[in-house]
Amino acid sequence: MPCTTKIADINFKPKGIILSGSPYSVYDSVSPHADPAIYELGVPILGICYGLQEIAWTHKGTVAKCDHREYGFAQVKINKGSNDSTNALFEGLGDEMQVWMSHGDQLSSLPPSFHIVAHTSTAPFAAIAHDTKPIYGIQFHPEVTHSPRGREVIARFVLAICGCRADWTMEGFIGKEIKRIREICGPRGRVIGAVSGGVDSTVAAKLMHEAIGDRFHAIMVDNGVLRLNEAAQVKTMLTKDLGVNLTVVDASDLFLGRLAGVEDPEQKRKIIGNTFIHVFEAEAAKIEAIAEEEEKTGTEKKGKIEWLLQGTLYPDVIESISFKGPSATIKTHHNVGGLLKDMKLKLIEPLRELFKDEVRALGRLLTIPAPLVQRHPFPGPGLAIRILGVVTREQVAILQHADSIYIEEIRNAGLYDQISQAFAVLLPVRAVGVMGDCRTYEQVIALRAVQSEDFMTADWYVFPAEVLRRISSRITNEVAGINRVTYDISSKPPATVEWL
Ligand code: XMP
Repeated sequence: MPCTTKIADINFKPKGIILSGSPYSVYDSVSPHADPAIYELGVPILGICYGLQEIAWTHKGTVAKCDHREYGFAQVKINKGSNDSTNALFEGLGDEMQVWMSHGDQLSSLPPSFHIVAHTSTAPFAAIAHDTKPIYGIQFHPEVTHSPRGREVIARFVLAICGCRADWTMEGFIGKEIKRIREICGPRGRVIGAVSGGVDSTVAAKLMHEAIGDRFHAIMVDNGVLRLNEAAQVKTMLTKDLGVNLTVVDASDLFLGRLAGVEDPEQKRKIIGNTFIHVFEAEAAKIEAIAEEEEKTGTEKKGKIEWLLQGTLYPDVIESISFKGPSATIKTHHNVGGLLKDMKLKLIEPLRELFKDEVRALGRLLTIPAPLVQRHPFPGPGLAIRILGVVTREQVAILQHADSIYIEEIRNAGLYDQISQAFAVLLPVRAVGVMGDCRTYEQVIALRAVQSEDFMTADWYVFPAEVLRRISSRITNEVAGINRVTYDISSKPPATVEWL
């Protein structure tokens, strides 16, 4: 829920409250603040990063800017001799643990009635607790995969301190979601499905297929910025392995025409998102027209197409929705932002509460073949956000070729499953090179490979040098127009996975 939610406006009694992080500083005039009534409820409260600072600020502690923004790993040490009853957060988790920090502000003095529970070499107030109430604050991020025991800290809070039950299971989710989809669609309603061949849309499509069978119609839009031979490969995979009813629409001229001359990444995302919906509506109208014709000729009519399936995940939702400020929009992911205001189809998004690792687990339970479930994610706006600068057919062809070599060599080296996402990026600069006795002046390919579980944070992948050497040599020899290959060694944050 938005952190600005008023307790008077909610119609349930929370068992506990977690105040999450935020890009703001508590002293900014526009900073979001939690309703002070949360402290009167008597339920446990955990503040994470900004949430800790918010708790301290409300209780008259002080927060100050760090000399440097702190990003990266830190070793948290639990203070010996802390008040045992309020030290419950770390109970059973040992004396120290590795955690991930990402903050610009930190506590500079304790609020009255609070004590320090843990520290790091640079943060004396890495974790604090109230002396008598179940109120806790931690400076690090337990929710990211780079805090290996963060899940246990959250479990301590949710299960032990708040007394919640851990009764959510993926099997239960499947049953509930299938039931929900059947209720939404009714006995005759039909759904058009957006599939890309990626894990998300494939899992969403399979779930829809399980729920409503052939009333679900999958459509793949070839937007002209897919990977090499992707449309054909996806068609074989979805129809052969999953038996899904699929139409492939070649709309590459339309997309590339609308993208002509556009450099701005957010504009590219919006154009692709909007065009995507247009193409879907046109395709839905065609299928509807066929159904009308069938009815006239006496064949049974299945019902109206009212819904559009999208494989939206929770990180897309978090990163795209800014409600009057508190959560900064980092990128408008095309399947959430950029939708047309007059869209005629309603959205159905069965995965919008799941993270990527959960979608893979769901896919396995739905018996989707392993190579499909393990496939690296591919963004909706495709190669358009991996071509820095303007997108042309020529640029797309160069990037498709370089990317296919890169992925082929990763597979040949047996490294594909160790990497969460790998792709090539085409830079809008030219560099000098030499080929034979001639000077060349050509474009640069950047290679990106990251390891991540939920894509909210990511680390760059350390390749064996000989693999990089082979990839670089093949790309510069085989891809016309490229004379230089670089490897991106940035983590997220502060970078993002994609370059745009
Ligand atoms: P970033 O670049 O935000 O990427 O760190 C995190 C994950 O999201 C994917 N991504 C997108 N997916 N539409 C999508 O469907 C988008 O506009 C988009 N932008 C990034 C990215 O490939 C990575 O897996």
